Amino acid sequence: HAASKGDYPHYMLKEIHEQSTALRQTLSMALTDERIDESCLGDNAANILAGIEAVQICACGTSYHAGLVGRHLIETLAKRPCWVEHASEFRYRDPVVPANTLFVVLSQSGETADTLAALRYARTAGYAASLAICNVASSSLVRESDLQFLTQAGPEIGVASTKAFTTQLLGLDILALLLARHNGMDAITEAAITKHSLKKACFAVESVLSLDEQIRDIAQQLVDKQHTLFLGRGVMYPIALEGALKLKEISYIHADAYPGGELKHGPLALVDEDMPVIATAPGDKLFAKIQANLQEVEARGGQLFVFTDRPECFTASERCQVITMPHVDDILAPLVYTIPLQLLAYHVSVIRGNNVDQPRNLAKSVTVE
Ligand code: G6P
Repeated sequence: HAASKGDYPHYMLKEIHEQSTALRQTLSMALTDERIDESCLGDNAANILAGIEAVQICACGTSYHAGLVGRHLIETLAKRPCWVEHASEFRYRDPVVPANTLFVVLSQSGETADTLAALRYARTAGYAASLAICNVASSSLVRESDLQFLTQAGPEIGVASTKAFTTQLLGLDILALLLARHNGMDAITEAAITKHSLKKACFAVESVLSLDEQIRDIAQQLVDKQHTLFLGRGVMYPIALEGALKLKEISYIHADAYPGGELKHGPLALVDEDMPVIATAPGDKLFAKIQANLQEVEARGGQLFVFTDRPECFTASERCQVITMPHVDDILAPLVYTIPLQLLAYHVSVIRGNNVDQPRNLAKSVTVE
């Protein structure tokens, strides 16, 4: 039964471990003969997507962070402008809607009040069409959108979203590739990305679960802290935001997230041995930049925890602990680096004796404004 904990002590841990299966099922739903089939978004998808020239994404919470990753994917792969906004903000402003813009809502539940209100508002505001990327087929968002991409995460019980988030990222990869197909990406490039990146996602995600023990050790070092700072750059900045949100939600430790380049504009003033800094630093085009940011943290006496696939570029010490990640394609890095941050929040919460699956003051689905 999908909604039982099985052998796991908490739903959240079970759901973290279900991610490779959830990704495999989501991808297989979208593929026909190894190629992304546009009809995974609905019967009319080919017609609608052919005319799309820009994308506006709206969502709340963890789903909003997926949207921020989506912007990078859509602009990098499809070369279409993309904007992302909290649904609660979008619904109360007067958006200027560029011609032929697709309105995308992201949601695990499909019932979040602000996201639903944003969708209803968008439908009157002149967008070309709407798409819901959602985990619940029978939800209001799915019913009220022109197009639907149903993530195959299965029921998610833990209030802190995990497998819904990573399957949303995969859904956004797929959307970006479909928009790219309509904007001149050749079939060979697309097939290579599908085969070498998307099809590998489930294996990469599975392999980082083996970091669990090392992450529990880091969690032990964080349990007594009052504040933490998460850093990332480029497409990893939303992952820093998501890592910080996970920690806040279930451990009740204050966590902030910054893009590394903004350190000097404020947060560096807070860095000392009592404020751990957790960084995601894959060997992408911004690696040297985040590396320089982390050197500044170290020079100020900060305590660093670095997740990277280039451990040889850091001198490990008590002040700089390095967690070796597998090499993955740039497009998969956000997905894969999310997993250890989920595990970190989980372990801190467990050690602190909190109610992991039902954090105080929070609800799984926020159906009132
Ligand atoms: C609540 C949940 C979060 C979730 C957010 C958006 O705050 O606790 O985990 O990310 O709502 O929910 P949705 O169902 O729209 O993704």
